[in-house]
Amino acid sequence: MHAWLCTTLDGVESLTWQALPTPEPQAGEVRIAIRAASLNFPDLLTVQGKYQVKPPLPFAPGSEFAGTVEAVGEGVAHLKPGMPVAAIGSHGGFATHAVVAAGSVIPLPPGFALTDGAAFAFTYGTSHHALIDRAQLQPGETVLVLGAGGGVGTAALQIAKAAGAKVIAAASSADKCARLAELGADATVNYGGEGLAALRDQLKALTGGKGPDVIYDPVGGELAEPAFRSIAWRGRYLVVGFAGGQIPALPWNLALLKGASVVGVFWGDFVRREPRASQQALQQLAGWYAEGKLKPVIDQTLPMSELKTAYARMGSRQVLGKLVLVNL
Ligand SMILES: NC(=O)c1ccc[n+]([C@@H]2O[C@H](COP(=O)([O-])OP(=O)(O)OC[C@H]3O[C@@H](n4cnc5c(N)ncnc54)[C@H](OP(=O)(O)O)[C@@H]3O)[C@@H](O)[C@H]2O)c1
Repeated sequence: MHAWLCTTLDGVESLTWQALPTPEPQAGEVRIAIRAASLNFPDLLTVQGKYQVKPPLPFAPGSEFAGTVEAVGEGVAHLKPGMPVAAIGSHGGFATHAVVAAGSVIPLPPGFALTDGAAFAFTYGTSHHALIDRAQLQPGETVLVLGAGGGVGTAALQIAKAAGAKVIAAASSADKCARLAELGADATVNYGGEGLAALRDQLKALTGGKGPDVIYDPVGGELAEPAFRSIAWRGRYLVVGFAGGQIPALPWNLALLKGASVVGVFWGDFVRREPRASQQALQQLAGWYAEGKLKPVIDQTLPMSELKTAYARMGSRQVLGKLVLVNL
């Protein structure tokens, strides 16, 4: 097998494509021949040792991938060689093969493309848990999605629409906003440059003065406070991530004045602590995929050899949706 190996925590430039012995799955494990892997934001941080999960060196990065089961270890009954599957973990996906715990493998239903399977559970699982479970989003409500052009943002846009909500998609450029309108956003807001100062007025105008019922925030930083100040009475502000780099602080009186909730979202722990609920969510998502209500927005599909280009594009906010790397 081959893998992009991280031998130091000096970032993407130090990754090297190396030949390794193909590992045999032990009890409770499976070996997957990887067809496609997608980049998620934590992959940017893991290779710099800045993510909360720190795999021991050396490791291959890549937290989400899809392919076919090649071999199964003792005691694995529900997965068989040849089955199409997706897998989520902290690392291992930017390679030709990976051995993973059978419990982290998600069988893909018939008709689920492997490139979509490699770009699905992480982002759609997070956004479903956030909007449907944590925010209890209701049909007819208005959702503001910040960072709407990103991986979790595009998933949030589609899930909110599938749930019957109105979506205001917010992003940092006119180009991204135009793409988000094509993807079905009811309205868009450009918060780039001068746009930040006008954010509150725009949200007021778009909601008839009421403000968004739910705000989905994977960006944080300077966007958070003006967004929270715009939230509707009884609004729910979803704390999803801090792609902007800064963890914002909020004056607590704002929550009091709006009767609003600040709601934390941690999909990884939700999967670990509430596996049955997480499985039900994934089933609903797979159903919506089969009905055509959801489709991963794949900005580009690149050969696995182009991993460093993919990292550079994601790190510089050039991606709309997801980047997928494939083994040719
Ligand atoms: N809580 C959870 O369970 C959970 C699960 C998955 C992901 N997350 C978090 O959610 C965040 C987004 O993840 P993702 O995979 O969707 O990432 P992504 O695809 O890179 O999207 C992030 C978006 O954030 C915006 N952004 C603003 N400032 C940025 C900056 N300085 N650098 C990069 N992007 C910036 C960008 O949009 P504009 O250019 O339009 O601003 C970009 O589209 C990350 O913080 C990730 O860790 C949390």
